[in-house]
Amino acid sequence: MIHSTIKPSTTKNPESESRRVFLDDVLAGLRRSSKQLPCKYFYDERGSILFDRICELDEYYLTRTELELMERFAPEMGERLGPGVMLVEYGSGSSVKTRYLLDGLTSPAAYVPVDISGEHLRRTARELACDYPGIEIRPISTDFTKPFALPRTARVPSQVSVYFPGSTIGNFLPDQAAVLLRRIVDLCGAGGGLLIGIDLKKDASILEAAYDDRLGVTAEFNLNLLVRINRELGANFDLAAFSHRATYNRDLGRVELYLVSRKPQRVLLGGETISFAEGEAICTEYSHKYTVAEFSAIAASEGLTLDREWTDEGRNFAILHFSIDE
Ligand code: AVI
Repeated sequence: MIHSTIKPSTTKNPESESRRVFLDDVLAGLRRSSKQLPCKYFYDERGSILFDRICELDEYYLTRTELELMERFAPEMGERLGPGVMLVEYGSGSSVKTRYLLDGLTSPAAYVPVDISGEHLRRTARELACDYPGIEIRPISTDFTKPFALPRTARVPSQVSVYFPGSTIGNFLPDQAAVLLRRIVDLCGAGGGLLIGIDLKKDASILEAAYDDRLGVTAEFNLNLLVRINRELGANFDLAAFSHRATYNRDLGRVELYLVSRKPQRVLLGGETISFAEGEAICTEYSHKYTVAEFSAIAASEGLTLDREWTDEGRNFAILHFSIDE
């Protein structure tokens, strides 16, 4: 009999060490001639709540569209993933999407949610273990952009596949995305696969509205990064002196998020003074948009062959299944 077990494996990450890494990353980004902050730091508790609200906004079609595709096509996706799969989800949420997919799988060997946030991960794993008593749930609390080992499971999986929803791959530069895809190939091995959500190229006005909504939730999400830096790193950013900007860079096929200084100012951080000119911008996020052909070409260069795509009628969003060559 398969029983559901939750054994989180954690990487050691003491608070002081993560604070030091955060400070180093922020200082390195703000010392650059074009100032930058890594978008992974958006997701503190408040940032995660704001992101959940973004996902429900009228303008933010991405989550809604992907969810509709999952609801409609999960059985077909399950067929592609095959019986006895070990399904490894990157950046797992409490997500309804995952449940559609688990419902569509035939006798999965295990479900392995991977997320940097240990607490969130454990909660999700507990809930899923209750609702899916027949599936072995093996959460891993780690940064999925770095190599990690798969857990041993009670049943030997017939193949390993990664599920990477949400178009999170778009937040990586194309060459970083290629490195991540190569890691996925190495993790899953021959016979494995990748099911991934990507946001498709479209009209700039639709994209810019999705990242600069009328209610100002995305603006608050962006500014919350400065709130976090003030609180956790003791900086003195004046929130009222920065504004949110989202622009679609057509040449590079990406939405770019910025925090723009409204006036000349100085900010103290980690014993350093950072100067801003009026209008100077900190880039906080890239969100790359692809055509299916463009994304498949990157994936092909890393050993992934496109074998199925699901898109909505408006071709706003795509879920792609790739297989790893034997
Ligand atoms: C998480 N990621 C896919 C989101 C995106 O659309 O790039 C993050 C986001 N940033 C602003 N709105 C949503």
